[in-house]
Amino acid sequence: MEITESDLELYEIARSAASLAYAPYSNFAVGAALRTTDGTVYRGVNVENASFGLTICAERSAAVSAVASGARGFEAIAVHGDASSVPPCGACRQVLAEFAPELRVIWRRDGAPVVSSLADLLPERFRL
Ligand code: THU
Repeated sequence: MEITESDLELYEIARSAASLAYAPYSNFAVGAALRTTDGTVYRGVNVENASFGLTICAERSAAVSAVASGARGFEAIAVHGDASSVPPCGACRQVLAEFAPELRVIWRRDGAPVVSSLADLLPERFRL
């Protein structure tokens, strides 16, 4: 898929959100920016815990923030971390697919932002 100006704007919001990450254990700060159909942008960051498995990723944190504000129409999400490739993890793909199986996902691959459909990143989501 071709990356657009608004994808790149969302990616820059994700990049700046990363400064608010709470990541004292991995030191790997991740930021996410989720845009809904009315144009509102919800930010998310990874929030780690001394009980490591309780860590929440930036993408899920953005999704939870949106839903808690009454937003369900997810249009696009951008994720940024300071590594050459930062695709959303499998757990986040499943959580995002609950609300938008064909979500536009902007993520960093080989040092540059690219855009993928969530349907391509998670072809067989679990559903009830
Ligand atoms: N992390 C995210 O926030 N999003 C991802 O898609 C992958 C990983 C976080 C979790 C943890 O705090 C840190 O990155 C290292 O795994």
